[in-house]
Parts: sequence; C-alpha cells; structure tokens
Amino acid sequence: MMLGDPMHTIGILIGTRPEAIKLMPVIRAFEHIGVNPKVFVTGQHRELLEPILSELNIVHVENLRLMEDDQSLGDLSARVLARVQEVLRRHQLHLLVVQGDTTSAAMSALAGFYENVSVAHIEAGLRTGSRRNPFPEEMNRRLIACLADLHFAPTTQARENLLKEGVPSGRIHVVGNTVIDALFYVRDHLLDSMAPDPLLEQIAARGRQIVLVTGHRRESFGTDLASICRGIRELANAFSSSIEIIYPVHLNPNVQREVRPILSSVTNIRLTEPLSYARFVEVMLRSKLIITDSGGVQEEAAALGIPVLVTRQTCERLEAVEIGVSEVVGPDKNKIVEAAYRLLTDEHVYRNRAVPSAVFGDGHSAERIVQIMLGDRR
Ligand code: UD1
Ligand code: UDP
Repeated sequence: MMLGDPMHTIGILIGTRPEAIKLMPVIRAFEHIGVNPKVFVTGQHRELLEPILSELNIVHVENLRLMEDDQSLGDLSARVLARVQEVLRRHQLHLLVVQGDTTSAAMSALAGFYENVSVAHIEAGLRTGSRRNPFPEEMNRRLIACLADLHFAPTTQARENLLKEGVPSGRIHVVGNTVIDALFYVRDHLLDSMAPDPLLEQIAARGRQIVLVTGHRRESFGTDLASICRGIRELANAFSSSIEIIYPVHLNPNVQREVRPILSSVTNIRLTEPLSYARFVEVMLRSKLIITDSGGVQEEAAALGIPVLVTRQTCERLEAVEIGVSEVVGPDKNKIVEAAYRLLTDEHVYRNRAVPSAVFGDGHSAERIVQIMLGDRR
C-alpha cells in the first residue's frame, strides 16, 4: 500500500511533553503536503503536556487523560495498552507513529501490533546497553524495536544499534532528530514575539551568568537525586556573586520532594514551575552551562553549542560526548562541582566545548520522515 494515499489514515501518538515537542514538526510536515494525521494523546502527562499542546498548536482527536498522581509503571502501562488498543480498533489506522521511549510509546506500539496496525518509530536505536539505565526507557526502546515496522534513527550510531539487534537494514532510515526541527522553529519564529521575562531581565541587569538545571529520571530518585541537588547547591554557593541557577522543577512528586528541601532556600537558585517550550528555549539560549539528565535537552544543547553536564550513570547520546559539548558526570556531587568549576573558570576549555553541532540533526528531519513514509510500499 502507499501510505501517502489519502484513503490511508496515519495516527500520531503523544503521551508526554517531549513527545509533543518532537512530534510537532512531523505533524506540520504532513500538513504541509496536505495529509492530516489523526493525533491521539494518552495524557500520560497532564500539566506538563496540555500547555505545550496549545503552545505548539497541536490539535488532537482524542485525549485519554490517563495520568494518575504518582503513577506506577504497571498501572500506567496497563491503562495505555488497553485504551490505545480500543482507540486503534475504532479509528482503523494504517500506520501509527510513536516517538521515543516512554511508557505511552512502548504500550502503544504493542497495541498497534495487537491490532495489526503498522508502527513507525521515531528516535529509534538509542541504547546505553544497560537494561535498567535509564529505567524503564532502555527496555521500552528495545521493545519498540521488536514491534515497529519502520525505524527512524537519529544518527548512524543508532542505526548500528538496531542492526546489531537484527532489525532489517531496509527498515531503518537515518534522518536526524526532530527535536532540532522544533528547536529551530521556536528560535527562529516564536521568540521574537514573546514578552520579556522578568526573571531573565533581572538576571541580565545584575550581569550574572545563567546555569540551567533539569532532572527527572526514575533511576535517580532518592540518594542520587539528593546528591545531584547537593552538587547544585555547592556550585551556587561557590559562585554566589556571578551565577544564577534556574531550575524548572519537574512535577513528579518524587522529584519535588527531593529538590525543594535542598535547594529552595539558596538565594541564587530560582526554582520555577515547568516552563513553556519557547521560554525554555530562550533560557537555554541565554545559559552559560546546562546541568541535566534530560534526553531532549542534551540534543538541543548540542545544536546550540551550550556545554552540558549529564547527571546520569550512562548515556545514549554519546555523539555529543565525543565532540565535547556534553560530559557525563553522573550523580556524584563532587564530580558535578568540579566539572562545572572547570567550565566556568577556564575560558579556553569553555570555548573548545561550546561549539554548535549538527550531530543530532539539521532541522529537516521531519520532512525526511514524511517523504520516506509516503514512499513506503508495504
Ligand atoms: C515520563 C517518561 C520519561 C520521560 C519523561 C519526560 C515513562 C516511564 N517516563 O517520566 O521517559 O523522559 O516523562 O518528562 O514513560 N506529573 C504531574 N503532571 C504532569 C506530569 C507528571 O503531576 O503533567 C506527576 C504525576 O504525579 C505522575 C508523575 O509525575 O504520576 C510521573 O509521571 P510519568 O509520566 O509516569 O513519569 P515522568 O517522570 O514524567
Ligand atoms: N522543556 C520545556 N520546559 C521545561 C523543561 C523542558 O519545554 O521546563 C523541554 C526541553 O526543551 C526538551 C523537552 O522539554 O525539548 C525535554 O523534556 P524532558 O526533560 O521532560 O524529557 P526527556 O527529554 O528527558 O525525555
């Protein structure tokens, strides 16, 4: 069949904030050629996702609103699997597009398999090689690789990973990561029309440098997250007259309860609500350094040439480490402080690391994906 045939219905599945950001360019690329995919939202995220759907003008046909407070992986997985299978039965799709490695993506790919709907996986082939790290994302990715019919790998390394697992080479396409399309779109089209942010104005007026922090990985909850926060606090104290740390805190209660007690009383740390995507991009653009465990932020920072310290034990985005823009420091407080100190005090080291790179994409990934999907005869 030709997927480009208007008689064939393409579904796009969004569960969480990063999926919305990374799938927006794909939706736009389809619309650009006159194909209107049906967007389904599992609602694995609620407050983190709904403002971003409006901000990015993503119109969906259904939102299953599946999020529950402090949800367990088993319960969430069961809800997504059962409800998405039911949606697929009703909508008679020919292709379901999933992105990344969330529970929504993995369970929806499985639902697609059960309903005999072809599955395309965007951001395929990322691997750390460690089954429980990141948890549960590494296992989700491997599951999706078994279930998908089309695999859109962001890099050649990701393609290699899929080939090693026996995915047929003809089913893999190296296209870059669509997050770079989203990032460039926001930077080039949305930022100019935004009202100035009082916090950013204030920091600029005081001549301070910004260090941006995010963190939310399940495998870090407890001791590791506490250690990361102590490292951030030490860094804030060591540079109390020259940096301001902006930390939009993820809404997961396991994150909130660790972060707030350690960091809320430090004067040059600004704990904020999650930011809109455009505001977050603006903060990234103004940041000297980023400290994060986020996958998307590592990719965006590499494109912008902002050095990143990755507070994780393992990393599946080694392309950025190889070129030097990212450094994996893990959750160890001392390593975080030492690595940040080096970057903030040695201009030569900093300049060598702060180099923009197209290693994760050139901003045209979505167009490639759509062209390949339309030409795919199955
Ligand atoms: C999920 C993904 C992770 C992805 C991240 C992006 C899984 C298992 N995890 O992690 O891969 O990197 O999203 O942010 O798929 N919450 C809210 N409001 C929200 C979102 C979350 O209150 O809008 C709270 C709820 O209590 C919820 C909890 O956070 O139960 C956990 O949400 P969940 O989606 O399971 O995990 P994340 O840590 O967000
Ligand atoms: N992001 C955002 N607002 C925030 C924090 C992050 O818009 O307050 C964006 C960020 O630019 C990136 C994506 O959200 O594109 C990353 O989401 P997250 O860190 O939750 O997930 P991950 O990438 O780790 O799966």
